[in-house]
Amino acid sequence: MCVFTFLVFLGILLCAPYQCSGCPLGCECFSVTRTVKCVSTDLHTVPQSIPGYSKTVIVTGNDINQIGPDSFSDLENVTNIILSNNRITEMASHSFSALLNLRFLDLSRNQLALIHPEAFSIPGSPLQELNLSRSLHNYTALTDLTTALRWGGLWGLLRLDLSGNHLTLLPPGMFSHLSNLQQLLLANNSLVAVYSGTFSGMSHLQVLDLTHNDFRTFSEDALQELEKLDSIQILLGDNPYTCSCEIREFVSWLNESRAQVDVEAVRCVSPRGLRDTQVRGLGVQAIGCVVSVQAEVADLTLQTSYVFLGLVLGFVGMVFLFVLYLNRKGMKKWINDMRDACRDVLEGYHYRYEIDSDPRLGQIPAGNRGSQAQGHLRSAKSQHLPNDNCIIRLPADTQIKQGTTSPPQSL
Ligand SMILES: *[C@@H]1O[C@H](CO)[C@@H](O)[C@H](O)[C@H]1NC(C)=O
Ligand SMILES: *[C@@H]1O[C@H](CO)[C@@H](O)[C@H](O)[C@H]1NC(C)=O
Ligand SMILES: *[C@@H]1O[C@H](CO)[C@@H](O)[C@H](O)[C@H]1NC(C)=O
Ligand SMILES: *[C@@H]1O[C@H](CO)[C@@H](O)[C@H](O)[C@H]1NC(C)=O
Ligand SMILES: *[C@@H]1O[C@H](CO)[C@@H](O)[C@H](O)[C@H]1NC(C)=O
Repeated sequence: MCVFTFLVFLGILLCAPYQCSGCPLGCECFSVTRTVKCVSTDLHTVPQSIPGYSKTVIVTGNDINQIGPDSFSDLENVTNIILSNNRITEMASHSFSALLNLRFLDLSRNQLALIHPEAFSIPGSPLQELNLSRSLHNYTALTDLTTALRWGGLWGLLRLDLSGNHLTLLPPGMFSHLSNLQQLLLANNSLVAVYSGTFSGMSHLQVLDLTHNDFRTFSEDALQELEKLDSIQILLGDNPYTCSCEIREFVSWLNESRAQVDVEAVRCVSPRGLRDTQVRGLGVQAIGCVVSVQAEVADLTLQTSYVFLGLVLGFVGMVFLFVLYLNRKGMKKWINDMRDACRDVLEGYHYRYEIDSDPRLGQIPAGNRGSQAQGHLRSAKSQHLPNDNCIIRLPADTQIKQGTTSPPQSL
């Protein structure tokens, strides 16, 4: 009797959590909570014999490369699947289509490179929450995902987590087929801009998380796009906002928007003087918008006209040089002609100088000679100066006598 009891006890001890109830090897099955756990057991495929009563399947920390079309079959009771951190790279077509009651799918912390356009298709669109945080390998995967969100018929989806995926841009209309989505989590990416159409078709959105991205400001287009989302909760904190004049429209929007923004966390990162200052409520002067818009435009026009003038002058100069170049023979001839003409003129002067300094010139009366010799023969004239002075200083009565005696002196 005792031995029998012991054997039964031993049997229960050995069988209960494992094989006896059809639990897959290396997994733990909990019939009370209807949960199957396969944690860090180096599985290479999703285990096959998951008990039919299971509601929650947790397969994490394994080395599963691919989720195939028959990875999960006939599990009508499963509502939650957690497949995070399994190094999954590929999602095949209709991977979950046998899970007619699947509401929650966590694929976070994988390396998805290939996602089939119908990877998430499940008849009746039961899926409500999809976690793809830190799961996309690269930009190709994002393109695949965009297609899969479009073709997956995910109109029942309420929450999508795409955080931590190094996303730099979102294809326009990426979420337009998720018309019932309520929460879109895009935190911890590298987004720099929102474009018109980025959030098109999302009429039921309640929470948009854009924290921890690379936004420096938001353009007018982006603000219009955000304003279309109406009075939802928009999280914009922990971005490297640059509080220069370009942030002005964003400040105005924060000042006035109906959206509930986490304004406490929306702070300037630069310039240094405004670091850690709240962006909302910043004055236009504080962000350096001193010149009015009109003055700016005028300034720009002036700059443009200077540039234009410079270009025109440069062009004229080029044309001038080009004409000179084409005309170089004529130029040479002209220069030669000029040189000859100059030489003639110079020779003329030279000739006159020689004539002027001729001693015989002294016989010409002083007044006459002075006007003739002025300017170009100063040295020659100075030789006669003492005599001229002498004549002027002499008394009137002796002038004639002096005049008659002066020629022999001067000669
Ligand atoms: C799902 O659960 C119900 C009720 O617990 C059960 O009757 C049914 O057999 C389960 N389905 C499978 C495939 O085991
Ligand atoms: C998605 O998964 C990540 C990492 O596993 C987790 O931190 C995050 O909270 C999950 N997101 C949601 C919305 O539950
Ligand atoms: C993304 O990764 C896959 C697989 O490693 C590769 O084939 C593809 O070229 C990559 N795409 C880009 C844009 O780097
Ligand atoms: C952001 O994502 C990176 C990897 O993608 C991770 O290492 C880091 O902890 C995340 N940071 C936050 C604040 O979530
Ligand atoms: C934002 O509001 C503050 C007062 O709350 C005002 O001083 C500032 O000029 C406003 N900024 C812009 C850009 O409208």
